[in-house]
Amino acid sequence: MDLLTKFSFTYESQQLALQWLQFLQHNNFNFENIKEINLTGKIPIIYDMAGNKFSIDFNENRINYHKKKSTIKSEILSRALGAGRAGLRVLDISAGLAIDTVFLAQLGYQVTALERNPLIFLALQRAYEQCTEGFKINIKFFHASAIYFLNTNSEIFDVIYFDPMFPEKTKSALPRQEMVFFKSLVGNDSDAVAVLKQCVRRKGLNRVVVKRPLKAPVLGLKPHSHVDGKLIRFDIYGVQHD
Ligand SMILES: C[S@@+](CC[C@H](N)C(=O)[O-])C[C@H]1O[C@@H](n2cnc3c(N)ncnc32)[C@H](O)[C@@H]1O
Repeated sequence: MDLLTKFSFTYESQQLALQWLQFLQHNNFNFENIKEINLTGKIPIIYDMAGNKFSIDFNENRINYHKKKSTIKSEILSRALGAGRAGLRVLDISAGLAIDTVFLAQLGYQVTALERNPLIFLALQRAYEQCTEGFKINIKFFHASAIYFLNTNSEIFDVIYFDPMFPEKTKSALPRQEMVFFKSLVGNDSDAVAVLKQCVRRKGLNRVVVKRPLKAPVLGLKPHSHVDGKLIRFDIYGVQHD
């Protein structure tokens, strides 16, 4: 197959490899910048043409998955979500590396997390399957774009959390080269304003929270309030019911 001459695909389980390949092809994944997908270990490792690698492993703390000392009251993200209680139903529409997803799950929130990039989704799904941490029970991952999910799913959530890519350079949890690779995979999330406009119309919701770099302009709509950290800001939107 033409595709297989362009990059190397290493695996132990042929069944798993086939699942990945079919899923990526079915979702029109662009393989151009991918040099290798390595499925031989528990956690997949993905390499780009420049040799940068990318992986997601919820069992390790390399990119700060385990913030065990955090409490609902001590963290600005949980304050922005308006959370005084565990069990809050959060729809995280931009899972990415799921650092925030995992953090919210550790606080005891019920998190449904969406990721539209098929390769990132597969890496998340595998990280979830391999996860041995207790917070796992609080997370559900879906491969979906936010707009599709909001149009087709009627589940009630308390809060939508949105962290779209910000094109300018900001401090990141990932080492620089991995961030470059991650950004090249997911792009700029240029539909973020339209996504936010749809979110604030969602029925049954208390609020929508958008993460921005501290000094960045708002995402198209004026928030009702915000919670500021040292480098980032959470903009808080009420919900517009008809
Ligand atoms: C900046 S990253 C999110 C980082 C994440 N909050 C974390 O803690 O790792 C943005 C991610 O959200 C995904 N994304 C952005 N907009 C989306 C949308 N409308 N629907 C689904 N996924 C989206 C992108 O593909 C990308 O992986």
